[in-house]
Amino acid sequence: MSGRPTRVLVAGAGGTLGRLMAAELQRRVCEVRAIVRKKRSANERLSDDVREVQALAPGAWRGVCDDVDVVLSSLGASVAPTPFVGWRPYTRVDAPANLALLEEATRARVRRFVYVSLIGGDTSRHLDYSEGHERVVDALRASSLSAKVLRPTGFFAAMTAIVDFARRGPVPVIGDGHWPTNPVDERDLAELAVAEALTEDPSYRETDIGGPETFTRREIAELAFAALGRRPRLLHVPAAVMRASGHALRVANPRAGHFVLFATHIMTHDCLATPRGERRLCDAFAEYVRPKT
Ligand SMILES: NC(=O)c1ccc[n+]([C@@H]2O[C@H](COP(=O)([O-])OP(=O)(O)OC[C@H]3O[C@@H](n4cnc5c(N)ncnc54)[C@H](OP(=O)(O)O)[C@@H]3O)[C@@H](O)[C@H]2O)c1
Repeated sequence: MSGRPTRVLVAGAGGTLGRLMAAELQRRVCEVRAIVRKKRSANERLSDDVREVQALAPGAWRGVCDDVDVVLSSLGASVAPTPFVGWRPYTRVDAPANLALLEEATRARVRRFVYVSLIGGDTSRHLDYSEGHERVVDALRASSLSAKVLRPTGFFAAMTAIVDFARRGPVPVIGDGHWPTNPVDERDLAELAVAEALTEDPSYRETDIGGPETFTRREIAELAFAALGRRPRLLHVPAAVMRASGHALRVANPRAGHFVLFATHIMTHDCLATPRGERRLCDAFAEYVRPKT
């Protein structure tokens, strides 16, 4: 890939991680093709080449990978803890959208495909969220492309929802809160994803990534209160109650129900990855609560 800048397609470029990957690629002097669901004024800065793709529409990806060297995908159904961001389960968004993208990348003879999955997805395929990702991982493993899979823990950006809970009242902690995790700053993940995208290595590889510090779920809730300068107030919710709620919610909104089941699983199991990230959660929380000028 010498003689001209590497051309990288970022799928999910309007999302939390996608934006950061697009910015990091531009910093590394790559040409970025940013794929968004809907163009917004905030997306203009992503790249000079921003394209709208409805990822689940038949034929939507046709020609999108032409002239592209590397595909980097963080496209996936939202993991925001709210039922108002869509109803389709993860297996009906993440898997079909990324499989269609992989098919088009293969047709266009893209050299490398980097995909963001999750830590522990391969051992929790009974969860719709994990299965949605793992179907893509299966296809990448079998693909003729040079494929890289990243397996992060929870992003700091996702942890800020706990600060929002703490502002409003007690923070729900599923189970007794003793299970450990080392969440990762999405900027550290974006840097790793771009490094993987730009590394010449044809072999299939999976790389896990977590942050530098390990906390119990209870400690993360306490850290959120500390950032606000408040006394911790926790509300312990039995895992069985959450599981029953998740199954019931699936009837009204399948994705929301599956999200509750996934959240219950990760809060009642280890969720640990190699600590490759450097940024600290307390700094991210401090930044989040700082009044914006
Ligand atoms: N957040 C975490 O803690 C975490 C942890 C581990 C793994 N992950 C995985 O990492 C990936 C990136 O996470 P993130 O937090 O950056 O997610 P995000 O902010 O929700 O970004 C996902 C992007 O995918 C796009 N998208 C979804 N459905 C689409 C469709 N039908 N057509 C076109 N675009 C579509 C979204 O577009 P809109 O902006 O228009 O909605 C969004 O820009 C996800 O696959 C997630 O499962 C996340």
